[in-house]
Amino acid sequence: MGRVQNKVAIVTGAASGVGKEDALLLAREGAKVVLTDLNEADGTKVAAQINASHAGSALFVKHDIASEDDWKAVMAQTEATFGGLDILVNNAGILMYGNIEDTSLATWQKIQRVNADGYFLGCHYAVPAMKKRGGGSIINMASISAIGGQGSFCAYAASKGAVTAMTRSIAAHCRMELNNIRCNSVHPDGIMTPMVANLHSSMPKGTKTAVRMMDQKQMMARFAQPMDIANLVLFLASDESKFISGAELRIDNGYLMWAD
Ligand SMILES: NC(=O)c1ccc[n+]([C@@H]2O[C@H](COP(=O)([O-])OP(=O)(O)OC[C@H]3O[C@@H](n4cnc5c(N)ncnc54)[C@H](O)[C@@H]3O)[C@@H](O)[C@H]2O)c1
Repeated sequence: MGRVQNKVAIVTGAASGVGKEDALLLAREGAKVVLTDLNEADGTKVAAQINASHAGSALFVKHDIASEDDWKAVMAQTEATFGGLDILVNNAGILMYGNIEDTSLATWQKIQRVNADGYFLGCHYAVPAMKKRGGGSIINMASISAIGGQGSFCAYAASKGAVTAMTRSIAAHCRMELNNIRCNSVHPDGIMTPMVANLHSSMPKGTKTAVRMMDQKQMMARFAQPMDIANLVLFLASDESKFISGAELRIDNGYLMWAD
């Protein structure tokens, strides 16, 4: 028996990075997985990789998490293919450079639309679906920037802050309702994924940020691997964490701690 045997999971942003690793690990541990992403080519490949070793366990659905219609379609396909929903990993996200002075309203709104609205929509549709199953687990990918702030990624940090407060509110609501649905947020520091690999080149020339000034060697030392995050996601998705809800789990190797 796997640790999430026969549970049905949706993982957003599953074509790449952390979401890909989450989907592969949940499937190895017995879950049926609906992988969603804007990136159809890579998402389809990950689903095929799962089905090659666990036939019939994975389905890819093209999905823009900022679209309510897309969420309705994903929920309907999940129900039709696997019969219901037990786990939602709200993972897809975007990161764009910008401090408070040089972030435009358009950039701010673009980031909130995906990282905050997209997560709201996922939770909004997941809770009623999970109620029909008698419970479930929602895992929202936030960031240490939701706790510590991040000078050069102001709109991104705010979007993750919104997700963190929403997570607590969902946990409180579900506890009051005694519906056996848990909701937690995960707060990594850097993770070695395409999101950060492309960061240096996407920042304006001459930008001074701690991230920009880090060389590849420093990044390897400080940054987690996608599997480090997937292991925590698996624990939160499984019944092993059945009394954990409303938690903000930092996964940053102590980065936010005072040195003395
Ligand atoms: N990489 C890091 O250092 C880091 C640190 C803290 C938190 N996070 C968070 O972890 C999560 C995963 O990030 P990652 O590093 O694996 O990034 P990634 O860029 O490798 O993967 C993100 C995936 O989300 C998809 N995506 C983007 N916008 C989408 C949309 N509107 N609808 C559907 N899919 C969309 C992309 O196509 C991509 O496949 C994100 O929420 C990110 O904010 C990442």
